[in-house]
This record gives sequence, structure tokens and C-alpha cells, in this order.
Amino acid sequence: MTRVSILVTGAAGFIGSHLCDALVAAGERVVGVDDFNPNYDPGLKRGNIAEVDSNPRFTLVERDVTTMSDDELDALMRDAGVIYHLAAQAGVRASWDDFDAYVRRNITLTHRMLEAARRAMTPSGKLRRFVLASTSSIYGDAEELPTAETSRPLPVSPYGVTKLAAERLALLYSANFGVPVVALRLFSVYGPRQRPDMGFNLFFRSAIEGAPIAIFGDGRQTRDFTYVADVIAAMLASATADRVIGEVVNVGGGHRVSLMDVLDVIDDVVGRSVERRFTGAMKGDARHTAADITKARKLLGYSPAITLAQGLRAEWQWIRASVA
Ligand SMILES: NC(=O)c1ccc[n+]([C@@H]2O[C@H](COP(=O)([O-])OP(=O)(O)OC[C@H]3O[C@@H](n4cnc5c(N)ncnc54)[C@H](O)[C@@H]3O)[C@@H](O)[C@H]2O)c1
Repeated sequence: MTRVSILVTGAAGFIGSHLCDALVAAGERVVGVDDFNPNYDPGLKRGNIAEVDSNPRFTLVERDVTTMSDDELDALMRDAGVIYHLAAQAGVRASWDDFDAYVRRNITLTHRMLEAARRAMTPSGKLRRFVLASTSSIYGDAEELPTAETSRPLPVSPYGVTKLAAERLALLYSANFGVPVVALRLFSVYGPRQRPDMGFNLFFRSAIEGAPIAIFGDGRQTRDFTYVADVIAAMLASATADRVIGEVVNVGGGHRVSLMDVLDVIDDVVGRSVERRFTGAMKGDARHTAADITKARKLLGYSPAITLAQGLRAEWQWIRASVA
């Protein structure tokens, strides 16, 4: 019998673990790869993956993909019908400091995955889709808002530069070797298991500790926030949709909110007014982000379903339970 599975890199991360949960719940066989590196507490990553790891349809491969041999990578991909490549060094601000990690985990790692996918593109091969987690950070200070995929990429952080390189590589492998790539540009993802360096997670932990929320800049910067379940819906759709191969598709929440307005919603969710402390703007943060999601609606049938208030409530409940 032909065994077809789904390969998820970065399986123990924030978004990857939700994707594995959804795939296994849908009855798929999933192989998840993660190296549990200490860019943030690996214990949190183990917690993310704990439940799905007990499911017999899920196999965890605890490896750093960049150190795997070609043979090992080929074996990993042998049964993969779909590859979701999410493993990366995420985070804008830290990318000024540990640039080597960003180059290795965003560019070199993606290149290794694409080379292996290229080798898997044999007539008898099973690979029908390679979904890349790209990012709105490649737009930087976008020339138009909301920003369409045709807008010029102008990243303002080393993270954005390395992710743009990864995305361009993936599109090259699609155009030249037929690797069936679709690149999803995700906009500020939030929800349960959000990385501890990300804004809402930091805000909620400050609220729990009774500490002021640190706001970089004047608070009038705007973001298009995307709830993680909406991202997963887009990822699942991109594995089967027609006409997406070789395409870049924005995945945003569908609304743009200022940080000050987010903080008002956070006060509501937390049930009290949380003190705000303004600090200087951070280098690498785009001033505004807003996704034009017309293409995602058309090609993926994408329609973000979760409001900011609903999503923040879900993240708050998770964070309270996890620090209890
Ligand atoms: N979270 C967001 O708002 C957001 C926005 C846009 C794009 N993205 C992209 O989505 C993807 C997932 O982001 P996340 O927020 O879940 O990050 P995350 O850090 O929680 O997950 C990434 C996972 O990849 C693993 N990993 C890194 N290098 C590896 C290697 N060499 N071998 C094996 N595993 C490795 C890490 O251990 C981690 O568990 C990334 O590609 C990121 O660039 C995230």
C-alpha cells in the first residue's frame, strides 16, 4: 500500500504545533521535525507538541534539519505528499544580534529543504505541494496599505531580509525544478502558544505580574493581526487548492488595528486597566502592516473568522492556565 504522509518542519513551534494538531485531527499521518533549539524555552515547545505526540498517527523527529545528511533528508521526505516548511528563526528585534542563526535557520535550512524536495520530484514521487511560511516582514514599510502581493518587498529588519531570501529561493525552485511551492506571507500571528517574545504574550504576562506593559514607540503603529486558527485554515487550503503553485499569497486577519486600540481590548479581556509605559521605537519594526487578502480569498477560499476580541480572549485563557 502506498503510504502518504505530511511533513511539518518547526512542528513544536507556535504555529507548527497547531498545524500538526489540525492535520492529525483530520486523520492525516504526520511527521513533525523540530530541533527544540533554545531560541526560546524548549520546555514551551515540548508543551506545545505533548498532546499530538501521544497520537499514533504522529511521529516526532527531533533533529536539526541543517545537520541532516542528504540521505537522511531524502528518507524523511520519501512518503511526504505535502511539506509544510515552518522551521525558522522567527522574531524581528533579535535579528540585529544573532544574524548567523537567522542565515542558517532561514536561508540555509530552506535551501536544504528545497534541494531535497527537488530530488523528490521524480516521476514516481509523491510530493504535490511545498507550503512555505513566509512573512509580512518582507514588505517592511510597505509603499501601499493594504499591501498586495505585487507590492515591492522592502524589509526593514535582518529577519525580513533572510525570509525574503528564503521565499525567493523557493520560487526559483518552483520555476526551475517544478517544486510545487506556495508561499504564504503571514501577518502578525497570535493565539494560544504564541512565542514568548511576541507582543500579546509579553503584554498578558505583564498584566499577570502587575508590571506595566512596555510599548515601543508612540502606540499609534498599526498591525494586521491574524488568529492562529485562521492561519491554519489557509495552510490546509493551500495544500489542495488549484492555481496556487508558484504563487505568493498574503494571509492576514482582514483588519488593521493600532496598538493603542489593542491595549484597550486587552484591558477589557483582563478586566482592568493595565499600566502602559512608553519606550523608544525599535529598529526593525515596520510602522504599519495591512494585508490585502483578495488573492487568498480567491485562490484559497480564505476568510478570517476570529475577531481580535475573541482571539485575545483565547490567548489570555491559555496564558493564565499555563502560568497557573
Ligand atoms: N508568529 C508569527 O507572527 C509569524 C508571522 C509571519 C511568519 N511566521 C513564520 O511562521 C513560521 C513559524 O513561526 P512561529 O512563530 O511558530 O515560530 P517558532 O519559533 O515558534 O517555531 C519555529 C520552530 O522551528 C524550529 N526550528 C528552527 N530551526 C530548526 C532546524 N534547523 N531544524 C529543526 N527545527 C528547527 C524551532 O525549534 C521552533 O520550534 C516561521 O517560518 C516564521 O518565520 C511567523
